[in-house]
Amino acid sequence: MADVDQPLDLSHEYALDRDCTTLSRHVLQQLQSFSAEAQDLSALMNRIALAAKLIARRLTRAGLVEDALGFTGRTNVQGESVKRMDEFANQVFISVFEQSGLVCRLASEEMENPYYIPENCPIGRYTLLYDPIDGSSNVDINLNVGSIFAIRRQEGNDLEQSGKDMLQSGHQQIAAGYVLYGPSTMLVYSVGRGVHAFTLDPSLGEFILSTENIRIPDHGPIYSVNEGNFWQWEEPIRDYTRYVHRHEGYTARYSGALVGDIHRILFQGGVFLYPGTVKKPEGKLRLLYESAPLAYLIEQAGGSASTGSQAVLDVIPEKLHARTPLIIGSKENVALVESFIQEHSREQQDRQILSTKG
Ligand code: AHG
Ligand code: MN
Ligand code: MN
Repeated sequence: MADVDQPLDLSHEYALDRDCTTLSRHVLQQLQSFSAEAQDLSALMNRIALAAKLIARRLTRAGLVEDALGFTGRTNVQGESVKRMDEFANQVFISVFEQSGLVCRLASEEMENPYYIPENCPIGRYTLLYDPIDGSSNVDINLNVGSIFAIRRQEGNDLEQSGKDMLQSGHQQIAAGYVLYGPSTMLVYSVGRGVHAFTLDPSLGEFILSTENIRIPDHGPIYSVNEGNFWQWEEPIRDYTRYVHRHEGYTARYSGALVGDIHRILFQGGVFLYPGTVKKPEGKLRLLYESAPLAYLIEQAGGSASTGSQAVLDVIPEKLHARTPLIIGSKENVALVESFIQEHSREQQDRQILSTKG
């Protein structure tokens, strides 16, 4: 029972609030500079945070608001049915960057072509790539969803609006991260100096630093994959899955939303897989606004991300909505999956040599 004579010790409750490192301040601290680019990155992150707050606010009340949930009846460029929240969140990112002077183009999962903000283009030297709502199948049942983003410098004027300079590897990203809409709203980001997590304090309306310099464990127990696709996978992925079934120390977690699954793995270690299938060797996830930003983030935290045959960050996409297989997480877990793929391709080569000799 509480001792009524003793004053309550509230020091723990306020421990985090005392420092109150906000996102924009943190970006400047990270870059140790007040250069124009550092100011730009700080302002860009601030706008992304605003988009996250607007989306979080709508999600919080979605069940009470008319027309917030459900499908729009349209399909996007991926051939997927668009949810109302997909469309809302897509528009939120556009609105927060209009008249910002920061971003000339935005490219998103929900838009076939990049969206240009002409009034920003003479000065806005950056491109935002984003997945406005990741895991939208979770939206209507009030489970975790996310947003994924990456920032790249714009190269050239792109006057003909071809967006060709976006088709470069993930090494061109200068910042990336995600927002997780869960019990708390969290924003996790990197500007190439480690990975840092912020938690939205609704009473302040601010993202406050909650974990700095996150390091992903080198090995972890979780494997996260949609095993419903087992018989559509290539043999080495099936073999890897059989391996984790037969060895102690592994546990499965799969939420249907990449951001949530990656968030767990970032903190607890393990591997997330969305492999290709025999029919769709590229898998499902899109490189520029899903796989590459998360690969950048996880590598910054000391993990790795692979397609199975190369580093995700090395992949140069042929088109805006290109897909890649994704194997991402703790270094040792990813290496183990890769070893199954390599062994399988060695065996195939041996068989080919034998059959040409025979
Ligand atoms: P999105 O909602 O942006 O289309 O992304 C969904 C993605 C990803 O979040 C998740 O890991 C995966 O699709 C789930 O796909 P399956 O239902 O095929 O497992
Ligand atoms: Mn997605
Ligand atoms: Mn999406």
